[in-house]
Amino acid sequence: MKYRSLGSLTVSAIGLGGMPMSVQGRKDRETSIATIHAALDAGVTLIDTADAYHLHADEVGHNEELIAEALASYGGATDDVLVATKGGHLRPGDGSWTKDGSAKHLREAAQASAKRLGVEQIGLYQFHRPDPDVPFEESIGALKDLLDEGLIGLAGVSNTDVDQIRQANDILGGRLASVQNQFSPAFRSSEDELRLCAELGIAFLPWSPLGGITNAGGLGDKFAPFAEVAKERGVSPQVVCLAWELALADVVVPIPGASRPETITDSTTAPDLELSSDEMDRLNAAGS
Ligand SMILES: NC(=O)c1ccc[n+]([C@@H]2O[C@H](COP(=O)([O-])OP(=O)(O)OC[C@H]3O[C@@H](n4cnc5c(N)ncnc54)[C@H](OP(=O)(O)O)[C@@H]3O)[C@@H](O)[C@H]2O)c1
Repeated sequence: MKYRSLGSLTVSAIGLGGMPMSVQGRKDRETSIATIHAALDAGVTLIDTADAYHLHADEVGHNEELIAEALASYGGATDDVLVATKGGHLRPGDGSWTKDGSAKHLREAAQASAKRLGVEQIGLYQFHRPDPDVPFEESIGALKDLLDEGLIGLAGVSNTDVDQIRQANDILGGRLASVQNQFSPAFRSSEDELRLCAELGIAFLPWSPLGGITNAGGLGDKFAPFAEVAKERGVSPQVVCLAWELALADVVVPIPGASRPETITDSTTAPDLELSSDEMDRLNAAGS
């Protein structure tokens, strides 16, 4: 495994996205625990989750609880694993995603997440998505308070634009540790945010880095150069995709989702794939 910086910490260059284990199409608990254990076996030290990764209204934190259970039952050491959770999104249970970016909600949500994760301090807490009904300053101000009080170790934002990233970093006194935005061959519109993160030295965590739960398997069919390079190098198109993202800037830490051990095990080999500039040109052209 290779490593990258995230705030003051060092994390594996590939993280595990927990969402597929808790939303539509999720597998049984045993398979999910085995998936998290497979990630740990492969050297993953960053696991991304959110209180909103669940299906039904009465199971808020389903994914956080799975991760806590998997870490507790893992045979090896887990002290160096950073669990990154989020607050500010809610799932009332009808399939919709609602928002609450108020300071009151974020504080209560972070307290509840810490309890589910079984920690006194959440490693990385990310504001899930700006709430148009709440001033952005209020939401980030809440993160700042949580950081100052020590309930969270690092603060991040998600689904933010260039102006919001700068504003969040200012409010946090230069302590914005990470930005999590959608980025994949199919979705390149966060390139400006990625570049800003590279300039400021803030970790950029592409979400749905393979195109999302339903499209990830067909990545090579949709973007032929990814399949071609994969064939030439004897790896999967998904590994080529993650290696391509890693090569875009050294602040990038992809968090591919998985609900099966095989897929996360495959994804963790991406940092070993060094792409040539010719291959990067072909892949860059495919994604534009
Ligand atoms: N901040 C946000 O608003 C936001 C939004 C969406 C997602 N996220 C985060 O980002 C993470 C990743 O996004 P995502 O899960 O939506 O999409 P994704 O990572 O693009 O795709 C996930 C799917 O990719 C498949 N996969 C993973 N590695 C593979 C490989 N090597 N070969 C073939 N298939 C592979 C998995 O299949 P199996 O299920 O069969 O293992 C999984 O279902 C999420 O899990 C979540 O933590 C954040």
